[in-house]
Amino acid sequence: MIEDFVPDRPVPSEHVWMHGHDLGVTVAENYRAFAEDARGRSPLYESLAGAVAGDEAILSFLGALPPEKRQPNLLFAAARYLRGEPASLDRIRELVSQDPDVLAGVMLARRTQTNEAARCATLLPALAQLPPPLALIEVGASAGLTLLIDRYSYDYAGRRIAGLDPLAPTLRCEPRGHVPLPDRVPEITWRAGLDLNPLDVASDDDVRWLSCLVWPGEGDRSERLAAAVATARRDPPVVHRGDLLTDLPALAALAPADATLVVFHSAVLAYVTPEDRQQFAAIVRGLRAVWLANEAPGVVPGLAIPSYQGAPFVLARDGGTPLALADGHGTWLQWLQ
Ligand SMILES: C[S@@+](CC[C@H](N)C(=O)[O-])C[C@H]1O[C@@H](n2cnc3c(N)ncnc32)[C@H](O)[C@@H]1O
Repeated sequence: MIEDFVPDRPVPSEHVWMHGHDLGVTVAENYRAFAEDARGRSPLYESLAGAVAGDEAILSFLGALPPEKRQPNLLFAAARYLRGEPASLDRIRELVSQDPDVLAGVMLARRTQTNEAARCATLLPALAQLPPPLALIEVGASAGLTLLIDRYSYDYAGRRIAGLDPLAPTLRCEPRGHVPLPDRVPEITWRAGLDLNPLDVASDDDVRWLSCLVWPGEGDRSERLAAAVATARRDPPVVHRGDLLTDLPALAALAPADATLVVFHSAVLAYVTPEDRQQFAAIVRGLRAVWLANEAPGVVPGLAIPSYQGAPFVLARDGGTPLALADGHGTWLQWLQ
């Protein structure tokens, strides 16, 4: 369910920092960097990104788009959205030569907003340590699938935790170290999301876009997405349209006073500039809230991470305490304390 939180104010354009999109290098170099990222995750996207990096016609098409709209994941998802199958070099070439306006239209209208329910397995142990009941605000919530932490069930290498929705998927996560696994999901009395562009789980078109963002070859992510969407459709989370830099305090003011307010985000701050991350950190610190960040190392301002051992994500509390290292898609969690 989407609610316009600040309907009279225009939503700013997409920020410019993201994987495969470094404004300091050429488009071809970005696609080559993306190919490196995709290695081991998606052989198809690895070879496709490498091929695009050497294709003058596609590079010229991309060069005519605004800089923040040239990134590989957006191009590949848009091609898939338009052609109904995983992107290939031939399909992208065909779109670029025959339907460039249609392809550009999708890329201009859509954003990279992957929503991965399995990241809830990263957040659950930290949330379960807080005094219940909880009031949750997710910043950068996309379609709100990561707000449904208490609905999913969990399986941490055989240690099962039942969620509240018996039809919801079971999220599997390998615990490493002494992960403080709870006996039950935490009590959540209130939840709300905030996003520049909320996706609507009730919209088949939005859900199709979410499915196009899943990289081909990434195991069971597509099935998990479908199951998480079905869960959300049974009782949709509210995601407000707004900017993390301007709209968080007003949303926090709506939270019930008798619950522990938690502001959390995962895979979001990499999309905003370093200056805006600093500003966001100051805003969250000004709230009476627990702050949980599940982001790539170096993204949360001032967070010292002694040794992140190449982990994609670091789970941190209140911007200063690293709690755990985590897989970017919640498949493993290594507790640090
Ligand atoms: C990669 S998605 C992550 C979604 C979800 N947190 C998850 O872990 O699955 C990043 C989301 O952040 C949102 N976002 C980016 N910049 C934002 C901003 N300045 N204010 C609010 N949301 C923002 C995007 O619209 C997108 O939906």
